Amino acid sequence: MTTNMTMMTTISEARLLEWRARWITAVNQALSEAFSRQAEGQPPEVANLLTAMNYTVESGGKRLRALLTLAAAEAVGGREELGLPGALAVEMIHAYSLIHDDLPALDNDELRRGKPTCHLAYGEATAILAGDALQSLAFETLASGVNGRDEAAQRLRAINVLSRAIGPVGMVGGQAMDLAFEGASPAKAQVLEMEGKKTGHLIGACLAVGATLGGAEPNTVDKLREIGQLAGLAFQITDDLLNVNGDPKLMGKNVGTDAQKAKATITAVLSQAEATDMVKSLVGQALPHIYGIGSEKLAWLIGSIVGRTS
Ligand code: IPE
Ligand code: IPE
Ligand code: MG
Ligand code: MG
Repeated sequence: MTTNMTMMTTISEARLLEWRARWITAVNQALSEAFSRQAEGQPPEVANLLTAMNYTVESGGKRLRALLTLAAAEAVGGREELGLPGALAVEMIHAYSLIHDDLPALDNDELRRGKPTCHLAYGEATAILAGDALQSLAFETLASGVNGRDEAAQRLRAINVLSRAIGPVGMVGGQAMDLAFEGASPAKAQVLEMEGKKTGHLIGACLAVGATLGGAEPNTVDKLREIGQLAGLAFQITDDLLNVNGDPKLMGKNVGTDAQKAKATITAVLSQAEATDMVKSLVGQALPHIYGIGSEKLAWLIGSIVGRTS
């Protein structure tokens, strides 16, 4: 363990890439099994709902939230596997948020993860239900397969932190601010609060859920949640910049859509250079804490937010 800014690196980039690929495969497999289990014995209408849910989930994405959760479980001294129910839950929550975010009543987007959005593929009503059901399946997953009182207490704390992060004072509250700010001129602090809530809180919860399931004490969990929120804010600022100048093929979603909808993104309150500097500064604030707990995987994942192209 070191508290220096420059952590001694012992894991090569190739090993980190191999670690990431291995866990993405395992997470995808477990997600697919979760949907198959739900579909058993269900009528065709429910099977269709599950297909719509799986449509967005199985198209992948970077699985950053799952990887952060798994790495956080290990960072606090647990086995990565302990974080798996949390990793599945945060990806289900994330997919629900994307499906609802893309709806005509919200961002009205047509492309997600390289495919037509869920409401275009399955209809608006089914997309609403798919989001609803993904949210409840996430919490069912997090509350299932518990062994013993200690694990039950950890899972309850994880459910508490995740539900708070995605509710009215977190992600959904941030989405409400995002919608209210369309066509308006909020102050920089309001835009940053909106960005932090709609995206930063879930990313903060990934670290907190992983750390909780890995057996961390509450003060360590809180610290990791705060660090994750800084990283998550940096992640959303980068998302705003990519909506201006990113490559839709790499991102699997359309660009220029924020301007079309007169969204008050970071570019409304900062120049692109200032926003890029803010991303570096936020990640720069987060990394020393990660170095302090000696997690190269978390440091690598959070460091990858700077300069990301997808
Ligand atoms: C997109 O998140 C939505 C935001 C919160 C910015 P990601 O860029 O992580 O999307 P996927 O999971 O890779 O598709
Ligand atoms: C996504 O925000 C935040 C949530 C889905 C909660 P955006 O609307 O800015 O993200 P994209 O660009 O559609 O992925
Ligand atoms: Mg949105
Ligand atoms: Mg959107």
